[in-house]
Amino acid sequence: MDKKTIIWKVICGLVIIAVAVVLLTGVLNKRDVRYHTEALTRDQLTELSAPAPTETAYDGTITAAAWKTVFPYIAASMEDNAKNDAGGEIPDYLDQDPYLKNIYEGFGFAKEYGEARGHAYTLTDVKNTARPKAAANCLTCKTPNFNKKVTDEGLGVYTMDFETLWNEINEKGEAISCYTCHGNSAGNNGELRVTHSYVNKALGGNVQSIDASTLSCGQCHIEYYFTPADKETMMPYDSVEAMTPEAILEYYDTMVLANGLTLTDGSTKESIQLPAGSTGFSDWYQSSTGARLLKAQHPEFETYLQGKHAAEGMSCADCHMEIKLNDDGTVYHSHELVSPLDSEAILESCAKCHGDTNMVQKVHRIQDQVMTREKEIGNKLSDFKDALAAANKAGKLSEEDLNAVRRLYREAQWFFDFDYVENAEGAHNSELANHCLDLAAERIEEGMELLGK
Ligand code: HEC
Ligand code: HEC
Ligand code: HEC
Ligand code: HEC
Repeated sequence: MDKKTIIWKVICGLVIIAVAVVLLTGVLNKRDVRYHTEALTRDQLTELSAPAPTETAYDGTITAAAWKTVFPYIAASMEDNAKNDAGGEIPDYLDQDPYLKNIYEGFGFAKEYGEARGHAYTLTDVKNTARPKAAANCLTCKTPNFNKKVTDEGLGVYTMDFETLWNEINEKGEAISCYTCHGNSAGNNGELRVTHSYVNKALGGNVQSIDASTLSCGQCHIEYYFTPADKETMMPYDSVEAMTPEAILEYYDTMVLANGLTLTDGSTKESIQLPAGSTGFSDWYQSSTGARLLKAQHPEFETYLQGKHAAEGMSCADCHMEIKLNDDGTVYHSHELVSPLDSEAILESCAKCHGDTNMVQKVHRIQDQVMTREKEIGNKLSDFKDALAAANKAGKLSEEDLNAVRRLYREAQWFFDFDYVENAEGAHNSELANHCLDLAAERIEEGMELLGK
């Protein structure tokens, strides 16, 4: 072999190795290669109109089992929500963040506060929770059959016995299903319907201003309370503008209670902590601190609507429901509600606005920052609670001074909770998450100062 041939062979060898390396990296790093392929978009969706099945459940709702004959792939994708089973063993936030137990003292959430999982488990999980269930209204966000009953029979359903109604629905009804979001109209190309009556009651005409796909999730992924009179589930605002944590606090503070007491009696916001139940709504009375407190629920809807993506015209479905291609060519929304971080197809759709940004990293960076602050401020809130309880017990401060501190504690707990219990951990709206934590930190500092700490 002459020198030229050897050099030529070496060059060929190197080229072959280089090509192999490039190909292999491509295979191993599939995400990066696929990231730039086009995701299916909304305008490619197939028109899915079909007559509704005639068979209905005991209460007139059409079940997922019946719809399965019409849209088998959609029903099957909804069944996939059972895959989100939290590993079979539901993690308890109280173990993860022990300070919570102290903050929630005196309320059901101090007993158990399990992480959420997929829609398939709502009936099982509400039955098994160690938190006390005062009435059937706990079923509001677990099953369409409850809301159908409220529509058919009226507000009395909210105070029915929990066990009785749970047994009835578990036997004859279903967990969150087609009826929840579509009524019986899923055959009209997935027409969305509000089936939870309190949504229309609270928002009135302002319902029209909210994207239907977002509103459909906003029937449950919200902050709510039970009205003192009927124990009806209710949202504490009447418009998107009134969904801020400050405005909702004001709503609860000035709520007209069933006993007719209002702020118009001349009492001030600061005096809300005065006589037991004098005015203002609270979820529970904490005897160690003497404070009347609020428990935020899961304000994904409110947090999201005040964020940047809502302003861009996006809806919950855009990030939590994949658009998929069926074998027969149908393009449809998967009804498995996933984290966008677990879905290559949804991550691809981010590129339209976020370009090459690694979205998984972007989201994790935000969540890490928010969760670190939650731990820090949660622990401070717990210390504040201990200091207030000690002052309450010592009896050295006047009732007026104590009330001023209780007021700050009520506010700090509310702002902290509004962020803590939102399930995206800052990803939906990091500005609002940090704003809530700022407000909580300010109230804690002010309160500790009043206590001389
Ligand atoms: C938690 C709410 C929810 C449930 C439960 C639900 N859907 Fe949907 N459905 C939606 C949303 C949101 C869309 C997307 C609407 C949009 O943004 O275009 C949709 C879209 C559809 C469409 C239109 C085609 C498409 O894929 O976009 C059909 C048909 C449909 N759903 C049928 C069903 C059936 C059948 C069931 C029960 C097996 C069901 N849905 C359960 C919320 C729901
Ligand atoms: C009828 C009430 C209801 C509606 C409507 C609803 N959800 Fe849910 N959702 C729940 C409940 C309750 C859970 C927690 C279930 C459990 O842990 O047993 C949940 C859980 C989830 C989870 C899993 C959370 C986790 O931590 O794993 C996601 C994601 C989710 N919902 C997204 C959506 C989206 C997106 C929509 C709208 C298309 C929607 N939901 C509509 C009540 C509802
Ligand atoms: C721009 C995309 C985007 C939109 C739109 C969006 N979300 Fe999310 N959502 C996320 C991200 C990112 C997370 C964090 C996921 C994770 O931690 O794996 C998340 C988390 C969640 C979770 C917790 C899920 C879990 O697995 O812990 C729920 C529930 C949820 N979103 C509901 C909603 C609802 C309801 C809406 C509409 C009101 C909505 N999301 C709109 C991106 C979005
Ligand atoms: C229609 C355009 C658009 C799409 C599509 C989009 N985003 Fe965004 N997103 C924005 C804009 C605008 C901002 C605000 C500027 C910024 O922080 O980059 C933003 C901000 C964010 C933030 C920071 C939010 C905060 O409050 O700090 C996250 C996280 C995010 N996007 C995740 C996603 C994910 C995940 C997807 C895909 C599932 C996605 N985005 C798709 C426009 C979009």
